[in-house]
Amino acid sequence: MNKKTFALKGTVCYSETPNRLFVMEDAYLVCDNGLSAGVFPVLPEKYQGIPCRDVSGCLIIPGLTDLHLHAPQYRFRGTGMDLELLDWLNTYAFPEEARYSDPEYAFRAYSIFTEDLKRSATTRASIFATLHGQATELLMDLLEATGLKTFAGKVNMDRNGSPDLQEESAAASARDTARWIENCAGKYRNVKPILTPRFIPSCSDALMDELSALQKAYRLPVQSHLSENLGEIAWVKELCPDARFYGEAYDRFGLFGGKDCPTIMAHCVHCTDEEIALLKERGVFIAHCPQSNTNLASGIAPVRRYLAEGIPMGLGSDIAGGSSLSVFRAMTDAVQASKLRWRLLDDTLAPLTLEEAFYMATLGGGSFFGKVGSFEEGYEFDAVILDDFNLPCPLPLTSKERLERLVYLSDDRNITGKYVFGNMLF
Ligand code: GUN
Ligand code: FE
Repeated sequence: MNKKTFALKGTVCYSETPNRLFVMEDAYLVCDNGLSAGVFPVLPEKYQGIPCRDVSGCLIIPGLTDLHLHAPQYRFRGTGMDLELLDWLNTYAFPEEARYSDPEYAFRAYSIFTEDLKRSATTRASIFATLHGQATELLMDLLEATGLKTFAGKVNMDRNGSPDLQEESAAASARDTARWIENCAGKYRNVKPILTPRFIPSCSDALMDELSALQKAYRLPVQSHLSENLGEIAWVKELCPDARFYGEAYDRFGLFGGKDCPTIMAHCVHCTDEEIALLKERGVFIAHCPQSNTNLASGIAPVRRYLAEGIPMGLGSDIAGGSSLSVFRAMTDAVQASKLRWRLLDDTLAPLTLEEAFYMATLGGGSFFGKVGSFEEGYEFDAVILDDFNLPCPLPLTSKERLERLVYLSDDRNITGKYVFGNMLF
């Protein structure tokens, strides 16, 4: 029997669809060689005798996916929220990211970040580093050691940065990116490189051309930002007068989804109908980042519309636009923001439900990583054990109510076990 075959016993919850939550109490959740074998009321004959961790009284949910965050911004999370995006980048984000030219600083800061990510309910994440190749590799070494499954990207930016934070030229950016990709090759099992043009204002056409060639040569996925802030969108119009909309400025370089280019676009707060149609056509994943969109006063994305259109979507903490690393917090923020949007902006899009937020945090975002985010048979076994010991209640609660309270009220103390692809992290 291999180490990755075992059972967990407890109350198992996962999303079957965006609207339907599966719940089974006193259930056996079986991991067979790293993959879920399903959820059973009685341990099947075939699995009699496998090790069983009994966490009766606890909830067991799929690991959460954070589809968008900036590791080097972790130091200043929870501060500097008095500005909108473009001023915020120049005032807070760029000066902090410039520090990562120093590998010693990078190691100290990234060690704190990766420890906290390991302790959280997140099992999968897609992460921006900085433009520095060496610091990005340090981040990847630390991520690898956590056991989490992640994508990490060396950022590309050859224009509109700061004197301390900008690459010399498109050619220099491409050269450093190719070196970074080559250095990563074959080195990691858990962390993978992802091409990361910061956003259109940071990347010249010449650089986008270079990245397009690298994407094809190495068949890498892509992550970037799209239609987050009105000032940003107006700027992209000036920079790319020929693009009919922001997304086209990526698409004309082949860096906007499609079969051979899995892509995550963060935010999508102010997309036009044409842009939404292209997101859908290309199967681009949207990373919805409600806390960041509130902190930076960017707006509220029309999430229900994206769900209804069947656009793949997950949640992002967007550290440090978002202040909290918790994807539970992203879930509650998504629900709350959708209620304000419905009340104040557009009563045709009903608020999100807890089921929908849970879906986005698990199966929705997890799908970027393959068969991830569910306990249906064949899914990679990512599980989080939640103990609500410190949330006493004078009345009996249903399992769904317990889950809802944990989403709204839990912190890391409530996370008492975590597995990624069948490996126990704690
Ligand atoms: N757009 C370009 N860079 C950034 C960033 O660091 N954070 C956010 N929220 N948006 C961006
Ligand atoms: Fe971001």
